Amino acid sequence: MSKIYYKVTHGVYSLTTNGGGCIVDAVSQISGGENPLFSIAVMKTNNTNELVHSNDHVILSILSKDVDSKIIEVFGHHSMKEINKFDEVETIEIGDIQVPSDIIGYMELKIEDRIENETHTVLICRFEDGRILNEDKEEMTYSYYQKHKDDYVKVTTENNKTAWLCTMCGYVYYGDEIPEDFSCPVCGVDRDAFIKK
Ligand SMILES: Cc1cc2nc3c(=O)[nH]c(=O)nc-3n(C[C@H](O)[C@H](O)[C@H](O)COP(=O)(O)O)c2cc1C
Repeated sequence: MSKIYYKVTHGVYSLTTNGGGCIVDAVSQISGGENPLFSIAVMKTNNTNELVHSNDHVILSILSKDVDSKIIEVFGHHSMKEINKFDEVETIEIGDIQVPSDIIGYMELKIEDRIENETHTVLICRFEDGRILNEDKEEMTYSYYQKHKDDYVKVTTENNKTAWLCTMCGYVYYGDEIPEDFSCPVCGVDRDAFIKK
């Protein structure tokens, strides 16, 4: 699988709304002006996908290179279906939406449109408001994350099972062996891309 798309520069963010959220990188600015549009792709298998259909507002928070790795672990490698993510990290409230507190800043976005494809819902969101909280921190890019993801993925063994790390996206699979027909639920690569932690 080609890694050339790691060279497309974009960031790593937390996307939260009422009831949960997850880490996203598939974010792009579509238009400019006072209230620009952004697109955000949310996988259909994520709990967050249900939430972005029942809520009209989301908050996109910009993460820094030195972000608390717990935020990536909790929001990027666990589902709200298994844990309450907001109990696991320190949060602040923006309106009625919780966001992790260790962020560079945040954007309050209104969902104006949802485009459905086979695997993702692409949200078309209008910027309504936002604030920079930590001007001095440096934004994490997705390629930076790819180079340093071992530092962000602090694998904890669950029920004595072996942890397998997806070398493409950092997803962790727990189990003694990876099933033959397994493909990464986050980025889709097959089992050959996984290494034992
Ligand atoms: C660096 C990184 C980037 C990710 N990018 C996306 C993304 O763009 N869109 C998405 O839907 N999930 C993305 N994920 C995966 C979700 O964050 C992950 O599946 C999460 O556990 C979903 O939680 P939920 O079930 O509570 O929604 C990313 C994960 C990581 C670690």
